[in-house]
Amino acid sequence: MSAGGYRLGLDLTDRLVLVVGGGPAAVREAGACLDAGARVLLLAPEVDPGLAGRDGLTWRAAPFDPADLSGPDRVWLVHAATGDPTTDDAVARAAEGAGVWCVRAKPQPQAARGHGDERVGRVALVGGGPGAPDLITVRGARLLAQADVVVTDRLGPVDLLAELPAHVEVVDVGKHRDRHPVPQDQINETLVDRARRGLDVVRLKGGDPFVLGRGGEEALHCAAHGIAVEVVPGITSAISVPAAVGIPVTHRGITTSFVVASAHEGAGPSLDGLRDAPQDATLVLLMGVTALGRTAADLVAAGRAPGTPVAIVERGWMPGQRVTRTTLSRAAVDAEAEGVRAPAVVVVGEVVTVPEQAARLLAGSTA
Ligand SMILES: C[S@@+](CC[C@H](N)C(=O)[O-])C[C@H]1O[C@@H](n2cnc3c(N)ncnc32)[C@H](O)[C@@H]1O
Repeated sequence: MSAGGYRLGLDLTDRLVLVVGGGPAAVREAGACLDAGARVLLLAPEVDPGLAGRDGLTWRAAPFDPADLSGPDRVWLVHAATGDPTTDDAVARAAEGAGVWCVRAKPQPQAARGHGDERVGRVALVGGGPGAPDLITVRGARLLAQADVVVTDRLGPVDLLAELPAHVEVVDVGKHRDRHPVPQDQINETLVDRARRGLDVVRLKGGDPFVLGRGGEEALHCAAHGIAVEVVPGITSAISVPAAVGIPVTHRGITTSFVVASAHEGAGPSLDGLRDAPQDATLVLLMGVTALGRTAADLVAAGRAPGTPVAIVERGWMPGQRVTRTTLSRAAVDAEAEGVRAPAVVVVGEVVTVPEQAARLLAGSTA
């Protein structure tokens, strides 16, 4: 069985799934089934570029025919997601008649609300936490389950998107290897546009929306257009990613303070704040991989000892989590040698040694 399975833990490995429809819901379901190891037969006028060429996908530009359910290769699950309730009903009925599981998309909320309904939707800025699906808050998960539209980033609990009902529109504005991120003003416009159509929008963000996440800008933009925004705090990577490897950002006897800064362009722009911080304060640097050498040099120039312990925690709470332990003077060289990649949180300060202390204590207690 592929890692994690599909909805309700269904094992789709090598099973045939028929997806009827070419819209966002169908594309998402087809992608999730392929991710779960299924073979997918997609009936749609066009194939989405994100699906084209994927292993296990067969595409036919043909309408649904009940005979599709009784071919020699047994269909195990059907997704009826054309967006047309009559067609989806017919597909669902045929699946039921053939004794095949069927997930039928709910009618689109726009249609359900009708033209005369002037209701303005709501926008919730939901902090999704650092990436593990069970590190979102209960309130965040509830709003996600009720959303008509989810505007999502690359970071955060993206696995939860596969659990959304088929009618939910998912707008991915994250940065991917082969394409640029969606500009912030376009994200802002999407939030306002969907809310004006009467839809309830969740803007799902990694970590906490108000920690280096541009959540404040999104809230102000919505407010300027008369749209109420609910902010749901999230577990920020600034604290939780160090914690994933046992590093506390404050620790009695070491420091009572920590500073969180973006190190996107070296410590330069944040240097005043970092210089004003107590010398024992833990520094937690986000977006710090690319400019790590410059940042470390800036910090030494600002008075931090070259031997100050540093931990670089990549992909905290996600598959592939890894920590590289080093010092300020060696950080860039060691990161290069280890092939460190974003996303990562860089922690600078004596707190980095706490997990080693814990390991020694554990070893001592079992000796
Ligand atoms: C644009 S900032 C957003 C921070 C987010 N608002 C928060 O509170 O965590 C993105 C940066 O957060 C850090 N980050 C977020 N999630 C992470 C994770 N799971 N593991 C490591 N770093 C992460 C990385 O430094 C990444 O470049």
